[in-house]
Amino acid sequence: MVEAVGPGVSLSVGQPVALSWLVACGRCRSCRQGRPWACTDSPSFAHRLPGGGTALAGSDGSPVMSYCGIGTMAEATVVPEAAAIPLPDGVDPAIAALIGCCVSTGVGAVTKTAAVSAGSSVAVIGLGGVGLSCVMGAVLADAAQIVAIDRVPAKLDVARELGATDGLVATDDPGAAIEALRDLTDGGPDFVFEAIGRVSTVELAIESLPIGGTAVLVGLTAFEARAAFSVYPLVDGARRILGSNYGFAVPAVDFPRYAESYLAGKLPIDRLIDRRIGLDDLEGAFDRLRAGQGLRQVVIFD
Ligand SMILES: NC(=O)c1ccc[n+]([C@@H]2O[C@H](COP(=O)([O-])OP(=O)(O)OC[C@H]3O[C@@H](n4cnc5c(N)ncnc54)[C@H](O)[C@@H]3O)[C@@H](O)[C@H]2O)c1
Repeated sequence: MVEAVGPGVSLSVGQPVALSWLVACGRCRSCRQGRPWACTDSPSFAHRLPGGGTALAGSDGSPVMSYCGIGTMAEATVVPEAAAIPLPDGVDPAIAALIGCCVSTGVGAVTKTAAVSAGSSVAVIGLGGVGLSCVMGAVLADAAQIVAIDRVPAKLDVARELGATDGLVATDDPGAAIEALRDLTDGGPDFVFEAIGRVSTVELAIESLPIGGTAVLVGLTAFEARAAFSVYPLVDGARRILGSNYGFAVPAVDFPRYAESYLAGKLPIDRLIDRRIGLDDLEGAFDRLRAGQGLRQVVIFD
């Protein structure tokens, strides 16, 4: 919700907004070629406002940077206008928070990056906020089969409630997982989404592909991580590997669209929120995330 605006800003006070963690520079090669999600010169990467300054300063006057220029774990924040995307009236701020990251990342990976076609078989490895959003995207795309995979059995139940048709509990044996996935999907899923960011599950995703299948890598590994795959079957079987950053989101277009889908009951984003917490609960919330417990925890400000 906008509380105040600076000079020349066209947003109104009281306007519901979702915050985007990537403000495109509009000038780099990616931006010029219509790929703002791949902007290489975004001020967001410098954790500063577009002019290079910061909204906050320490008591000694030194600049205090806010993460990706939005720094959301605070009661109020100052963001560039381009990071505050207007949403339709009636959207709960908790829903807006999820649209700004996991929903756009997961739904967009399925509907935009991969452009999954109706009737396809889809597998999603990792059922956090991003993976469950992939499941919701696959439902929107009218996939015929959606296999949800996680090491935590309770996540499979949530995925089924969102529309997954099958579930697999991941074990430490990737060979068994590939075999089970192939058995369930007539030789392998048309599309598999890796939404964890682990080398072993990236390799599992690629290895499970049938001829013509597509692996979409959404999870972020450590920067220096490398994965291996067999080249011959990839080439010979016209298999594809795609990277998906921010679900190819064009925030000003896609955020309100996802919000409208939520309001129309087509994107049950509220099902991803299982805890509403205060700022004081943050450390415990991170512990729960690390332990793979729960779904999305949203900080509420009274
Ligand atoms: N590409 C992008 O633009 C983008 C944007 C946001 C987040 N991400 C990345 O997406 C990934 C997922 O984010 P998230 O917020 O959903 O994470 P999360 O921690 O909420 O969820 C991860 C899920 O993976 C499961 N998991 C972990 N290890 C597993 C294993 N070996 N086998 C099966 N399941 C396993 C966990 O139980 C959990 O359900 C992260 O790597 C994150 O950095 C990417």
